Amino acid sequence: MTATDLFQAPAPGNAPDLPDAQTVLSVRHWDDRLFSFRVTRSGSFRFRSGEFVMIGLPGDNGKPILRAYSIASPFWDEELEFYSIKVPDGPLTSRLQNIRPGDRIIVKTKPTGTLVHDALLPGKRLWMLSTGTGVAPFASLMREPESYEKYDQVFLTQTCRNVSELAYGQHLAERLAEDPLVGAEAAQKFRRYATTTRETSPHMGRITDLIENGRLFDDLDVPPLDPAVDRVMICGSMALNMDLKRILETRGFTEGANSQPGDYVIERAFVG
Ligand code: A2P
Repeated sequence: MTATDLFQAPAPGNAPDLPDAQTVLSVRHWDDRLFSFRVTRSGSFRFRSGEFVMIGLPGDNGKPILRAYSIASPFWDEELEFYSIKVPDGPLTSRLQNIRPGDRIIVKTKPTGTLVHDALLPGKRLWMLSTGTGVAPFASLMREPESYEKYDQVFLTQTCRNVSELAYGQHLAERLAEDPLVGAEAAQKFRRYATTTRETSPHMGRITDLIENGRLFDDLDVPPLDPAVDRVMICGSMALNMDLKRILETRGFTEGANSQPGDYVIERAFVG
């Protein structure tokens, strides 16, 4: 039996014993580099919106190939959603991008992460700053009721090189008003600000520059970042994370963690 055979939907009666396996329900390709997919959720699996989990496929030698993926759906959703880049020669994503409904993938059962409400002190405005696939934990948090219970305003920024990379975030934002749990509140409180750096779009530039030159706040018509009222969650490349950390700390923000809530948090799980 090959790894591929093993991960076909198991036939009744002869299903191999696959701990942590879930069934793919749907797959959507956003462009030639990005896709999202939904899988079944085990009834006993619990996580906090914004956390990540290890997911993967069995390798040829039987050893699973696992990577950390943010769960892009909220804790209350009956299914799990993930958002992924396709790396042509990537050990996992070169294969994961070919999954179809009915296939089985591994979803480990120990979620963790720092992009959670528990790691932030109370505030008035929540900023979720992302680049590329870093939008995934915020796809969860934008559908999390606590985001709207705890904050008067919720901002999601996403910066990508090209316009097509913004499609997933745009789709999520457009669908948000119809969300059964948070739709009404999100319609009042949620705003998305998307920028590109290498292709023309309505808003252009790196988020770091747009914070420092004040353009972000001018465009949204809100006051600049202030640790007295703002709380910030960051998910992007190592360089972006470090640049935003410096910008925020210069403005008096302190980093939070699950054990000690603060003014901002960074997810470090996805950077090399
Ligand atoms: P840029 O095109 O100017 O490099 P990547 O695809 O390399 O992960 O980058 C995703 C987005 O994040 C791009 O728009 C990129 O802008 C931007 N970016 C990369 N590094 C930084 C950084 N240190 N600070 C702010 N934005 C960054």
